[in-house]
Amino acid sequence: MAEIRIRNTNERIQGEENVRSFLERQEVLYEHWNPSKLAAELQEKFILSDDEKQQILNTFDSEIRDLAGRRGYRTWDVIALSDATPNLDELLKKFEQVHTHTEDEVRAITAGKGIFIIKGSDDVGYFDVELEAGDVISVPENKPHFFTLMENRKIVAVRLFIETEGWIAHPYSDPSFQKA
Ligand SMILES: [Fe+2]
Repeated sequence: MAEIRIRNTNERIQGEENVRSFLERQEVLYEHWNPSKLAAELQEKFILSDDEKQQILNTFDSEIRDLAGRRGYRTWDVIALSDATPNLDELLKKFEQVHTHTEDEVRAITAGKGIFIIKGSDDVGYFDVELEAGDVISVPENKPHFFTLMENRKIVAVRLFIETEGWIAHPYSDPSFQKA
């Protein structure tokens, strides 16, 4: 289950209802899928063949179509990152810059962990959303954020798009960004 850390105060928010209501106030969609639906061998696998990626999409087909139907997503895929990913450190350096998109950024974590750093309302400032398998998040369009891995450096996630080109990152330079 996702956990929140507010960077200004180091306050942590835990528990499904607390996390959900915090994210709702910040206009961040949060939902949960049952990660144990996935075949056991895929719950801990971070190097995936095309067939295995398709198997993940098939497993969560009804969840994907439900979300897509409600929110207008038209295409989806699976992304896997781990130390086996070529140039992972370079990739993470690129990820770890505050940016915006003209489309919302949807991720459903199916294995591993990840973290979204999001610019919240003025009274909250930047906050971290730590995600694990089963967590589904959508960062709204034009909301400054970035994504990175956690200490285990492994994740598999389903991404959903309205238009793939809506997902281009626009750098957002922010002197008020809290680094940690
Ligand atoms: Fe993004």
